[in-house]
Amino acid sequence: MELSVEAGAARKGRASAPFWLTPAAYWMPVHYPTSAWWTHGPFAAWMIDVLRPSVVVELGTHFGYSCFAFAEASKRLGLTTTINALDTWQGDDHAGFYGEDVLDYVDGISRAEYADSVRLIRGRFDESRPLFADASVDLLHIDGRHGYDDALADFSEWRSTVREGGVVLFHDIAEKGNGFGVWRLWDEIATPGRSFAFSHGHGLGVLSMGEPSAPALRALFEADAPTAERIRSDFARLGEVAARQAWLLTLPRELDQVRAEVRARSAHEEQQAVELKAQRDHIDAMTASTSWRVTAPLRSLGAWRRRS
Ligand SMILES: C[S@@+](CC[C@H](N)C(=O)[O-])C[C@H]1O[C@@H](n2cnc3c(N)ncnc32)[C@H](O)[C@@H]1O
Repeated sequence: MELSVEAGAARKGRASAPFWLTPAAYWMPVHYPTSAWWTHGPFAAWMIDVLRPSVVVELGTHFGYSCFAFAEASKRLGLTTTINALDTWQGDDHAGFYGEDVLDYVDGISRAEYADSVRLIRGRFDESRPLFADASVDLLHIDGRHGYDDALADFSEWRSTVREGGVVLFHDIAEKGNGFGVWRLWDEIATPGRSFAFSHGHGLGVLSMGEPSAPALRALFEADAPTAERIRSDFARLGEVAARQAWLLTLPRELDQVRAEVRARSAHEEQQAVELKAQRDHIDAMTASTSWRVTAPLRSLGAWRRRS
């Protein structure tokens, strides 16, 4: 992987590292459940580092990749962040519908590793909205259903929970097919000096609610075009490392699945061979029997009558 000159400098701890290549930007997530968010893991850690949030709300958690990326970063930074993960844990027609095993998986990891930080809130987003006071959230991640109306409804309903200087993340702003419409909402709300857009990993929009509070966030939102390009390119490459790690870690799981399928298929084929042999033995026994041989003339007569 080749990063910019500053990336190398950041690794060596030289003072010339640019503001976006902090050590946290190189942290890779620990958990890689299936997700379309894999390549945003390093940016999630950077965001937690610069924003130092007390309260995070995530609308759409599914297997928990983004939630665990936020939780892992705040754990490494020694923060007392609460990450509120909201989902019905039933799925939708974009993410696909799924069973209780998904919530069991997220709950298991949350209890084992992030018991102090991750809070799972099951239900529809609109039902959970009264749990949060206005201006009480530092970081809001919107990643539910991805139609224009869905994203607009989530943003309209939840924007008031975010404090002045807090941040809203929108996933999938680069997806234009399959009824996805977050890109359209993003076009309407992205403001120069208050927003930043990544196009890799299906696109991630970063929006400041009011004046950015952290200096690094101000620098991100005010980056000139060449700097913004370098930021995008560096996080895309770091994200690629996360995605490759995810792929490597999930490979044994996939291999196990393929092995199980092959085993099941050969067991089925063996069973079919046994049944076929039993049928053949039965036919052989029948044709060798005395009654079969005695009734042979009758069968010939029947065949002759059918022909004539
Ligand atoms: C794209 S997935 C979230 C992906 C996750 N952030 C990740 O890192 O992989 C969207 C999730 O939002 C949930 N969802 C969609 N609309 C919802 C709603 N109105 N209320 C609660 N959950 C919803 C679905 O059940 C689904 O699990």
